[in-house]
This record gives sequence, structure tokens and C-alpha cells, in this order.
Amino acid sequence: MQFDVWSKTFSDLSVDCIAAGVFEDGKLGTEAAALDRATGGHIKGIIERGDFSGRSGETLLLSQAGRLSTRVVLVGLGTESSYNRKGWRRACAAALAAAGRTRVKSVALAIERPPAKQLDDYYFGRCVADITGQALYRTNDLKTGKKPPVPLIERVIAGPVRASGVAHARRGLEHGAAAAAATAVQRDLGNLPANVCTPSYLAEVARGLAKRNASVKVKVLDLPAIKREKMGCFLAVSQGSAQPPRFIVLDYHGPRAPRTAPIVLVGKGITFDTGGISLKDPGGMDEMKYDMMGAASVIGAISFLAAARLPIRVVGLVAACENMPDGLAVKPGDIVTSASGQTVEILNTDAEGRLILSDALHYARRFDPAAVIDMATLTGACVIALGAHHSGVMGNDEALVAELVSAGVRVDDRAWQLPLTEEYAEQLKTNFADMANIGGREGGAITAGAFLGKFTQGLKWAHMDIAGTAYQGGAHKGATGRPMALLTDFLVKRAGAG
Ligand code: BES
Ligand code: MN
Ligand code: ZN
Repeated sequence: MQFDVWSKTFSDLSVDCIAAGVFEDGKLGTEAAALDRATGGHIKGIIERGDFSGRSGETLLLSQAGRLSTRVVLVGLGTESSYNRKGWRRACAAALAAAGRTRVKSVALAIERPPAKQLDDYYFGRCVADITGQALYRTNDLKTGKKPPVPLIERVIAGPVRASGVAHARRGLEHGAAAAAATAVQRDLGNLPANVCTPSYLAEVARGLAKRNASVKVKVLDLPAIKREKMGCFLAVSQGSAQPPRFIVLDYHGPRAPRTAPIVLVGKGITFDTGGISLKDPGGMDEMKYDMMGAASVIGAISFLAAARLPIRVVGLVAACENMPDGLAVKPGDIVTSASGQTVEILNTDAEGRLILSDALHYARRFDPAAVIDMATLTGACVIALGAHHSGVMGNDEALVAELVSAGVRVDDRAWQLPLTEEYAEQLKTNFADMANIGGREGGAITAGAFLGKFTQGLKWAHMDIAGTAYQGGAHKGATGRPMALLTDFLVKRAGAG
């Protein structure tokens, strides 16, 4: 995909299709008005006839628009008074989707921009690339029948951008394009079935990433190596599965990256979560193939960094295994010793994410990190608390949590802080070990965080629970791409590159 910006006028752009906005009261956006003049009043005519209402997200594709040979997509912007960044996003997405259903190869976006304080030139570029990626993404299904035609769009030119903002917008497009490609990697991994996307498969994807990018080094720990690391919690989860576990270390060293402490990203890579001996109910259990979206986000983040060549050092850690119930599986009441030396009584084998993360978080210490961020589809309780709209975020460093929250706001991939205060750790007390792996139903997302907190003392650490946001069920079942936008924006800011 090629991206660029246009500045003065789009009428001399050689594209197959121009997308322009119309408000609900029939008022044309600035660019639509210019387009209307170029077509000899054709667009106004359509609206006067009542053939286009301008409701938000509505589209009308004109194969021929009066004197203009270029196709036009009219897109509804809703009412002018309520028009904002969200409306602009929706309009761009709808226009690209409409163009994608045709044989159009290049599109100029000429849709009224939201006020600069809602979307500056850099984020304008970032969002355009992001929206394009989302609009054109096709699920990697394994259907054998005839597939609907794939969109042919290969060039998107967005505007208007004042001459002074072109460099910023181009940089935004560049970062956004890298983020969109990385998001497709992340979503593809999530959508693959668990019989394909195994721990070894994730390791191969990581190896491929390192092979293609000199800036990325990879190390994969197999079962004996994981045993040598004494990752007792990780091993306990994995021991009931015929698939061997993998612990993946990705090390990105960007060009001109300062020799400072790295950021460490940690991902939960449960490629399938049956619950283990504490078996889950069968309804919707297939969705537990998405229990590796944290891992996919780590792999996605490293591929983003490699593509965007950000001057920063980031280490990605993925603990990958299945959570299965077999004759060797860990049992409720079993007590294991984590890599940190702390003992854990596994009261519920379905609370496995925190177990594998605890050993991965401990492994992070050896990098002497500037910050550690883990991502995990960790708790159903987080879905109950926040629904699908916000990821949960908590940690032991308020500044780091705030950084993540504001990254999410900037790119419309929001996270909400949950209060990880010391009281919650009380719920993990048990008389048989240093801690139990569950803390009861109340505040379940936070007690999971409190468990992780026992392994991150002295580190600057934040935890993102993406159980409600990383994928959706129902008719449009699939990975959503979250929290890739948040994460990549955070990394851009940390690299000082935004
Ligand atoms: N992977 C699940 C969490 C989950 C639930 C993700 C629903 C997405 C949707 C996790 O391993 C789990 O099973 N958590 C348990 C913890 C409980 C046993 C303390 C849960 O949330 O029920
Ligand atoms: Mn579970
Ligand atoms: Zn799980």
C-alpha cells in the first residue's frame, strides 16, 4: 500500500476515485463543494433529488459524475454540529470500504477534516493508514469455496494538508502504514485455529521475523531450556498438553537507538485455553484460541518497530503453551515454584495466564528494563468490568499507566485504569504457599493484576488486560487488532519519533 498527502487541490490528482463528504442537512463539505463545481453541479443535483441523505457512514458511489471522469464516492458526515474525529474516521472507513468493493486502485480522500486540536497532521496521517488497514483487512479464513474479490486499492492520497504540515502527515502515514501491517500480522495470528497456531508455530513466526529483519534477533527456549530457567509456573500450565511449550525472546535494536535500558513487552501466549482440569464450559470455548492475543501483540509490535525503524530498543517476551487437561495435567491444589522462587498454590487451573506471565515477567529482570508492559487476555472479570470498549490497565508506576492511557486516547484505542492498590493482594493469601493463583470472584481483573505485581516488584511495570478488546464474538467473530494502535503509538512516543 502506498500513501501520500495532497495539499492544494485534489482535482489534478490522477486517481481512480475521489471520496468527499456531505453533511446531513445537504451541505457539502469544502472539498465536495469544489468537486461539485468540477462536475458542473452534479452532486448538488443528487442531493436535491433526495438520493443522498448524508447520514454518518452512508455512501454513494458515482461511476460517472457529470463532466468528471474520475469516480466519486459521496460519504455522509452526519450533522455538522456533531461532526468530530469519530465521524471522520467512520466516513473514511465507509468510503474506503465502498471503493474497495469496486475495481478502483487509487483513492483520494477529500473528506472534511476534524478540527486540528482533535487530529493534528501527524495523527491525520497515522489514522488514514490505520483506517485503510482496517477497512481492507480480510480474515485469513480457510474456506475452500469461491472467495469474494479482494479490494484492489493500492494507493491512498489523503488531504487536505497545508504545506507546513506535509512532513508531519507523511511521517504519520509512514508510522500508520507500519502499524497497519503489524496489526494484520497480529490479527492473522489470532484468527488462525489452535491446531495451526501452536506454540511452535508462534516460535516459527518469530524466527521468520528475525530472518527478514537484521534489526531483530530471536531466541527460542524449548522444554529443556525452560526447565533450566526453572519456570515452574509456566511448566505447570504446559504439562497437560501434547504440544511442547516455547518461550520466545525477540530483541529489536533500532538504528541509532541509544544504549539505554530497553522496554520489555510480555505477551500471554496460551494458544488454546480449555481451562485445564478446572475445565471451562463448552459454550464459546472455541474463542479460547484467541488466548494468545497478548503474544500476537508482542510479535506485532516487534514487526512494527522493524518496519518503522524506530530508534529504540525493545525486547519482546512470549510465553507460549496450551492449557489442556490430560493425565499429567496440573491439578487444583498443586503447589509449584516459580522462577522467582516464590511458591504458588494453583487452586484453579483456569487461572493459567497469570502463571505463565509470572515467569515471563521474572525473566524480564535480566534486561534491566526501563519499563515492562505485559498484555494478556487475562480475565473474564475485566470483560464484565469494562466491556469491549476499554482495555483494562494497571500497574505499579502511575506515569507508565498514564502514558498508556493517553496513547489509547490519541489513537482511539482506549484503556481504562483499574485501581491496583495493596488491599487486593490480600485476597491471594493461602495457608499452604506464598500465594494462591486466584483471589475469588470480587475484583477478579485486579486480583489477577495483584498476582502479577508479586513478580514485578522494583520494576516499572504495567499490565493490560485485553480480554474484552482483542477479539469479538458473534456474527463478526474475529481479532479486532487491539491494542496494536495504542501500543505502537506508545512506542513511537517513547522513541521520540512522533
Ligand atoms: N483466558 C481466560 C480469560 C478470558 C475469559 C479471556 C473470557 C477472554 C474471555 C483466562 O485464562 C481465564 O480463564 N480466567 C479465569 C480466571 C478465574 C478462574 C479466576 C476467568 O476469568 O474466569
Ligand atoms: Mn483460563
Ligand atoms: Zn486463559
